[in-house]
Amino acid sequence: MGDKTCDSATLTVDGHTVSLPMMTGSEGERAVDIRHLRRETGVITYDPGFANTGDCTSDITYIDGEHGVLRYRGYDVEDLADHCEFVEVAYLLVHGSLPNAQQKAEYSRLLNLHSLIHEDMVHFFAHYPDRAHPMAVLSAMVVSLSSFYPELGENRREDIDMTVTRLLSKLRTIAAFSYKKSLGEPIVYPRHDMKYCENFLNMMFNSPVVKDPVNPVLADALNQLLILHADHEQNCSSSVVRAVGSADANLYASISAGICALWGPLHGGANQHVIEMLQDIRANGGKVDRAIERAKNRDDSFRLMGFGHRVYKSYDPRARVAKKICKSVMAALNRQDPLLDIAQELEAKALADPYFQERNLYPNVDFYTGLTYRQMGIPTDMLTVMFAIGRLPGWIAQWLELRSEGEPKIARPRQIYTGPGLRTVVPIEERP
Ligand code: CMC
Repeated sequence: MGDKTCDSATLTVDGHTVSLPMMTGSEGERAVDIRHLRRETGVITYDPGFANTGDCTSDITYIDGEHGVLRYRGYDVEDLADHCEFVEVAYLLVHGSLPNAQQKAEYSRLLNLHSLIHEDMVHFFAHYPDRAHPMAVLSAMVVSLSSFYPELGENRREDIDMTVTRLLSKLRTIAAFSYKKSLGEPIVYPRHDMKYCENFLNMMFNSPVVKDPVNPVLADALNQLLILHADHEQNCSSSVVRAVGSADANLYASISAGICALWGPLHGGANQHVIEMLQDIRANGGKVDRAIERAKNRDDSFRLMGFGHRVYKSYDPRARVAKKICKSVMAALNRQDPLLDIAQELEAKALADPYFQERNLYPNVDFYTGLTYRQMGIPTDMLTVMFAIGRLPGWIAQWLELRSEGEPKIARPRQIYTGPGLRTVVPIEERP
């Protein structure tokens, strides 16, 4: 349920007591509804980073950060990763239920149908510098889609369904084309005879001179990793997608903004920084203690990347599954990666350290995912792109949910002004 009022809380401001309704979610999470607080008391709440603030009710994803639980539409993420394809999970998030065989076949057909991007857009890639960060290219290309399909900017339901399918299909095409462009190689077009993940890996790593079949171990691992990324309720980028959508902006614009938010190193960008951190440790003789000491030092801005989370105060369930996937890929391919050894040592030492224990800092999703992407051959600066491909259905589901609730309330927080009082303009020649 979303909005059931169970009881109330009282708050006294300047001697005036108000009764504030309480809300309880379907898993028992409670909240004080302060929607009328300012009207009744003249005061607002102050909560930087929204650590204590709910901005919406949502039927999509449930997290219990204390117990390491993550469910999409009621299904445990590990259950989904073990038994579903990413396309099914995308359907689940967007439509609310898992597809049956016929729905899945139709969905896959639609995704294939829309996998090409307009050939004029292909030329865009030629004008990015070779070293352009792939997240910059991705966000720009996604918002550009709105100019190629302007009839879908009206936010009509049937247009939205088409836009959703186009986005889900084209994002991986854009990502793969941008990689080929960065190499200066010809692009490899999507194929209708391949499934979603296999198709992506084929576009990434095949070429006119290399026609190797995609390794099914890697396609399976990609499926699982994308499922781990698929949604995470009101995280930074999803909140951005909702905030932009609340201004009535179209879906492409909202998703493009979400991609930019995800790029940040404290958010999805952490996966790139994890690999760079592990490479740094290796280059400096493999000593993890120095990284741990730096992370603990208040005078050093260094943080252990891939560690800590706003919501999880126990082991991130995605990190547990990602570690399992990483080990099984290495075993199946009979490969080794010294960075995995360093990561495991770093994890063990951090978890045994009182600094990390007292602050409930555990590995998060970004700690182990990059190590598996490396086995696929995904370059380090594309790791956050992989996160974005996975997170796309979640962003879309969040945006659709916002729009399904009637006219969205525009996101517009208040502030506590701390600047100067009224001043008058002094003529320029008299200014100090
Ligand atoms: N290394 C060292 N200390 C840390 C770390 C870390 N990775 N994360 C948090 N802390 C400390 C922080 O210094 C603070 O200490 P104190 O109480 O002494 O001031 C305490 O733990 C609480 O941290 P916080 O910054 O108040 O927590 P937050 O909820 O605002 O931030 C976070 C969460 C994820 C931004 C943060 O843990 C972090 O910067 N982690 C590293 C970046 C990272 O891995 N990000 C990926 C997040 S998971 C993927 C996603 O959802 O995007």
